[in-house]
Amino acid sequence: MHDDLARSLGRLSQLALDFARLDEETPVRPILDPDGGAERLALALPEQGLDIDTVLDKLAQLLHATPSTSGRRFFNQLFAGRDPAATVADMLASLANNSMYTYKVAGPMVLVENLLVKEMGALAGFDDPEGVFTPGGSLSNLAALLCARNGAVPMARETGVDGRPLRVYSSAEAHYSIRKGLGMLGMGRDNLVSIACDTEGQMSPTALDAAIAADKAAGLTPVMINATAGTTVQGAFDPIDAIADVAEKHGVWLHVDGAFGGTLLLSERQRPKLAGLSRADSFTWDAHKMMGVPLICSVILVRQRGLLTRLLNESASYLFQGDTDLHNPGTRSLQCGRRNDVLKLWAAWQYHGRAGYAARVEHQLALANALADRVEAADDFTLTRRPASLNVCFVLNDKPADIICTQLNERGLAMVGHGTVDGQMIIRAAVVNPNLEEADLDELLRSIREVGDTL
Ligand SMILES: Cc1ncc(COP(=O)(O)O)c(C=O)c1O
Repeated sequence: MHDDLARSLGRLSQLALDFARLDEETPVRPILDPDGGAERLALALPEQGLDIDTVLDKLAQLLHATPSTSGRRFFNQLFAGRDPAATVADMLASLANNSMYTYKVAGPMVLVENLLVKEMGALAGFDDPEGVFTPGGSLSNLAALLCARNGAVPMARETGVDGRPLRVYSSAEAHYSIRKGLGMLGMGRDNLVSIACDTEGQMSPTALDAAIAADKAAGLTPVMINATAGTTVQGAFDPIDAIADVAEKHGVWLHVDGAFGGTLLLSERQRPKLAGLSRADSFTWDAHKMMGVPLICSVILVRQRGLLTRLLNESASYLFQGDTDLHNPGTRSLQCGRRNDVLKLWAAWQYHGRAGYAARVEHQLALANALADRVEAADDFTLTRRPASLNVCFVLNDKPADIICTQLNERGLAMVGHGTVDGQMIIRAAVVNPNLEEADLDELLRSIREVGDTL
């Protein structure tokens, strides 16, 4: 083995331990001023290479200045925490450095991916699913849109879209990747029809039905309905079964974006929130959100085996040399070279088990509800509505949510984001880290009050 490789691997565990400890001790790091930050951290690229210890020291310095997403004060995003098995598996995936396009190069890692696709597809209720891991929920949604578009305009892949307006329906609360996808696929972002939500932030099937009927009457082509299982701000679940009735009635592709809420499938108690999912044509599920697997780990699943391969395969004799399409996942991927994102999920699943994951989800939901209870019981806070999943949306009465969130970060108290619900700016605390304790929730509210008192 090369001496420097042995040296860097030898130092790895200490570097990683130091970093994990820092997250315990300083869960919110001082904000690095981007002006001058590159100089402070000596980021400039050298003309001559440095010795390996200097490079490792620089890496440690950079990491220590980077915001923590696994500490006890991080409520800012739909991912958080650090999984022991998945973290190490992800590091090992880099060490193995396989590319997930062929069995020849990735070997049993392909079997791992196929296993996870089968298992996750079965949880979605798909009898014979096909799927592939992608670089994130946005790209999983893009793959679904591509399938739906090519279903509606079969020649689009060969000759391009033919100019007819191809309409996509999604709730006003849906993630922006759907609109972005329309732009990327040449379908026109203006062809996204925003469907109203009810008071719980769920897409209205009645409004959806009316919008599709109106488009059909006007000669437009409905292509896809996007239902969300776990919306980005409120964590709400669209009523998939009723939406599937509308999709069936009009013969429109139904995609379910479960990037966030798909994980509830792991709990039998929570699974009814996604009732009707087995009727969907495609499904996005991000394991890097609620399942706690390091970024990135997302899968696009389709109900009908063979569809992704039909739409995404290219002949490349320099790459696909033997083995079946099933064992050459590159034939159904948006990508050529592809990182092994599935190993960490497999490791986490080995570690928790399905039952352990179910308990973990229940615990996350209990924490979110505990925060909501505290907010609801306090006179100076107002809860926007009871959490549908892990997002707790609320205000500190008469205080601006955006300024509170900025100051929490600047003062090193917490990282929390803000959003808009029913036209009101709210604090959105995503309670995703299962290692939080109720004392952390109290501390969050105490910090918000501390900031609020100064405004
Ligand atoms: C509902 C939903 N869909 C899709 C995405 C995009 O996922 P990613 O960040 O993995 O691209 C998000 C991100 O938060 C989301 O909340």
